[in-house]
Amino acid sequence: LNLTRNALDAVGTGGIVTICTEWDRQNTVCLSISDNGTGISPDVLKTIGKPFVTTKENGTGLGLPVCYRVADRHGAKINVETSPQGTTFTFEFKV
Ligand SMILES: Nc1ncnc2c1ncn2[C@@H]1O[C@H](COP(=O)(O)OP(=O)(O)OP(=O)(O)O)[C@@H](O)[C@H]1O
Ligand SMILES: [Mg+2]
Repeated sequence: LNLTRNALDAVGTGGIVTICTEWDRQNTVCLSISDNGTGISPDVLKTIGKPFVTTKENGTGLGLPVCYRVADRHGAKINVETSPQGTTFTFEFKV
């Protein structure tokens, strides 16, 4: 939910948010949330997942830290790919 809300915040009218799950038929299940927004600024990317980092007027900066803790508790890894064309967060769960 936090990743999807961030993705929706990042896109304008007519933007695209894609939620995808994938099993590689081996040991990894992935959940990814992609958007075609303007990407994460380098400053924010440096501290991604740290509490209280926000660029939003009414943001708490706690959404991503919660995601990282959830991933941690499930032994999952979070990958972030971002560019001016958009952002993808991928949770990688070991089966
Ligand atoms: N998909 C995204 N596209 C662009 N920037 C993003 C994206 N996801 C996160 N960010 C950046 O990372 C910052 C931290 O995100 P985080 O979810 O932790 O807090 P927030 O969204 O600002 O506030 P909230 O606590 O309401 O979630 C955001 O303020 C934004 O600058
Ligand atoms: Mg958020």
